[in-house]
Amino acid sequence: MCGIVGYTGRQAAAPLLLQGLQQLEYRGYDSAGLAVQQPGGLAVAKTSGRIASLAEQTDGGAALPGVCGIGHTRWATHGAPTRQNAHPQLSGDGRFAVVHNGIIENYLALRQELEGEGVRFRSQTDTEVIAHLIQKYHRGDLLAAVRQAVDRLQGSYALGVLWADAPGVVVAARRASPLILGLGQGENFFASDVTALVAHTRQVLPLEDGELALLTSDQVRVFGPSGEPVCREPQRVDWSLEQAEKGGFAHFMLKETMEQPAALRAALAPRLDRGRLQPDAGFSLPELRQLRRICITACGSSYYAGCAGRYSLEALCRLPVEVELASELRYDLPRLGPDTLVILLSQSGETADTLAALREVRRQGARTLAIVNVVGSSLAVQADHTLYTWAGPEIAVATTKGYTTQLGVLYWFALYAAQALGRIGPEEAARLAGELEALPRKLEQTLALAPRMEQLAPLYSARPSVFYIGRSADYAAALEGALKMKEVAYLHAEAYPAGELKHGTIALVEPGQPVVALCCGRRIAEKTLNNLLELKARGARVLALTLEDLRGLLAPAEDLVCLPETDPLFQPLLEVPPLQLLAYYAARARGCDIDKPRNLAKSVTVE
Ligand code: M6R
Repeated sequence: MCGIVGYTGRQAAAPLLLQGLQQLEYRGYDSAGLAVQQPGGLAVAKTSGRIASLAEQTDGGAALPGVCGIGHTRWATHGAPTRQNAHPQLSGDGRFAVVHNGIIENYLALRQELEGEGVRFRSQTDTEVIAHLIQKYHRGDLLAAVRQAVDRLQGSYALGVLWADAPGVVVAARRASPLILGLGQGENFFASDVTALVAHTRQVLPLEDGELALLTSDQVRVFGPSGEPVCREPQRVDWSLEQAEKGGFAHFMLKETMEQPAALRAALAPRLDRGRLQPDAGFSLPELRQLRRICITACGSSYYAGCAGRYSLEALCRLPVEVELASELRYDLPRLGPDTLVILLSQSGETADTLAALREVRRQGARTLAIVNVVGSSLAVQADHTLYTWAGPEIAVATTKGYTTQLGVLYWFALYAAQALGRIGPEEAARLAGELEALPRKLEQTLALAPRMEQLAPLYSARPSVFYIGRSADYAAALEGALKMKEVAYLHAEAYPAGELKHGTIALVEPGQPVVALCCGRRIAEKTLNNLLELKARGARVLALTLEDLRGLLAPAEDLVCLPETDPLFQPLLEVPPLQLLAYYAARARGCDIDKPRNLAKSVTVE
């Protein structure tokens, strides 16, 4: 995710900006840049690489003297991670510089409008339109020009703006992307998060949606969306630097779990516009029409996201869908051809087995679609088509937001392909798109269960093993829940199709055996209940995750948690986050190294 810093004061700006950008490195980025005001204009330095190379290029900032500037780390979304696409982006006259975090959804229309007026674009970024708009609207008042420009934007932004002719002035603005002002003595700052501020000041003022701020060395003025002055008390931050990087959460895993609604919004919002599906899958209609089957392949949690997403693809596209582990598929290839679409899921885009599977299936002539988080990763570059999940950097080894955004994008693709192929009518497509659009909000409600899961965690992690049961899509969600428990809490956890236990595994059940039963599929709820009763008859302690109106049916469970409801095709996405929390709190209770579990690596680049 992009990171922004801004500074105005009496010290040299560039070294401070570089320092701030270093603090934001953990967010992940692929290029960086900064701009500093100088008497003749703006001095700009950019790199398509790391901050270290920007520091080298600018002699640690010394080559860019000046006391007011902005800096940026870019996580590419529109256009490759090149120097040209790195921020700051400049207006045509080179007098305005803009750094931006977020996605401008109507940038194409704005770009066409500006090009029609004779503006020449120098990058592929959505951000460049903002710089040109500011120049277009500028009549001597920077703040007014920024306000007019942001009024034209749809989507999300946190912005830092510098004008060559307003010495010591920097403007900040935000909508749906974070931006925090840092208030100092004779100097002021802004940044995407407090990590970049705490070394300089503890007094912070988070900007709210629609607000703009004008900063000089001695003053910070904040204005609301209609230009009214805003007066809000700054907050004091007591975090250490390490805590600040985690946004105040004890672990990255918890932070990333809680970021899921925002991550899912970032993944879905550009692809859904008020219930309409935006066509960005890159497939032509003839290409979709020749498909006769779909194969999903991946490893670990990404494989489990495939297991959960399979149901929606099959039901909506009415095509046979298989899900295969990449490490198996590559050695045991089914017959594939151009009528097969292979969907490869990966957070990192660098998993060796998934990359090897990609090479094999391409050799057989199958079409490939990668659903990937890391921009520019090998999988993203090598597949025929790529859909990014835009979840932002995931630091904890155990994936959380990586999983949910993969599943969200898979749902979106199922709906997109089904609509394009005419397998569902416009009304049903609109209804399901509305359900997808509502998922981030329902996910927020789901995460509000955190205190309850914290309370239950010691009860369900007190024995050496725990079973997760469910049928159909509930079983797919159970697989991911069990993996989370294994990898972060070091507990033997086994996901089992609920109806299959009695064919052998039930022999392991003794009094006190913890069981997590997923029961959100109405169609099969009574069947799962029967299996739950079989376990209870042998002394198991059962935690049931279900829907409000199945509460009565599941009453025999010792513990019951009701989840928000969505269309049955999308329900697994709401079932997994409480299981992530259960595993997280179990791991915490057991004193495990949650963010870096033993024996595991974030990116598995060996076969
Ligand atoms: O980067 P990928 O999604 O391709 O990684 C696949 C697996 O290695 C990964 O999901 C792994 O299972 C995680 N540790 C799960 O939390």
